[in-house]
Amino acid sequence: MSLGPLKWEMSPADRVVIMGLLRLLDPENVLEIGCNEGGCTGWLCRHAAHVYAVDVVNKIGCLKAKYDNLQIFHMSSRQAFEIFRKNKTGFDLVIVDGDHSAAGAAFDLENAMALGKIILLHDVYNPDCRAGYEAALDKASRGDRYVNLNFTQGSVHPDGLWGGLGLIISGVDPGPLAASANSYDYFRFYQDEMSRRRQSPLKRIAGKIKRFVKG
Ligand SMILES: C[S@@+](CC[C@H](N)C(=O)[O-])C[C@H]1O[C@@H](n2cnc3c(N)ncnc32)[C@H](O)[C@@H]1O
Repeated sequence: MSLGPLKWEMSPADRVVIMGLLRLLDPENVLEIGCNEGGCTGWLCRHAAHVYAVDVVNKIGCLKAKYDNLQIFHMSSRQAFEIFRKNKTGFDLVIVDGDHSAAGAAFDLENAMALGKIILLHDVYNPDCRAGYEAALDKASRGDRYVNLNFTQGSVHPDGLWGGLGLIISGVDPGPLAASANSYDYFRFYQDEMSRRRQSPLKRIAGKIKRFVKG
């Protein structure tokens, strides 16, 4: 098994999770939001009956000649979701890796949850993306849904924190599969702690006095 191609913009760990899930699920319909050069899309085409690939740029035209189960939606996810909703297209698996702004990530996840059974969210370590994913989950009805935004870990890159996969499974009792804290949670704790320490000495002393008085 090869972890290639290089143009697949995910870590080896994230790639293996996707390859493994594809083998396990044998999905009928798979949706990828954000394909870029198609490193992931190619794998999806090898393992799913139908692949719906959405991107505002079209760099995967060459895959069309190789895989007749691939349908390319050269448009924004907003336009594509409109089409899927109108046609009542549902998905066994959705991979969200498109607009990485908080608003974009929230929009894609909201729509993915409406149409997909299993959702993989990429870049859960990126603070903007994660804020968007969390906002969409806060807005969603509770229901039977397993949610783990720490499914795999991301890492530090020259331009910040990126990578890591979140996993959402609809229609299951989340009880026995409790999500655990991982390094992203510790990173957030560290950030909070550092900002607390950056407070002015006067504020810190005032805080100490307040805590002392309160007992
Ligand atoms: C990080 S790349 C995707 C990488 C790909 N999933 C992989 O594993 O190799 C993000 C892609 O999302 C696309 N994109 C950004 N905003 C989008 C939007 N609103 N709708 C659809 N695609 C979008 C970009 O053009 C880019 O190709």
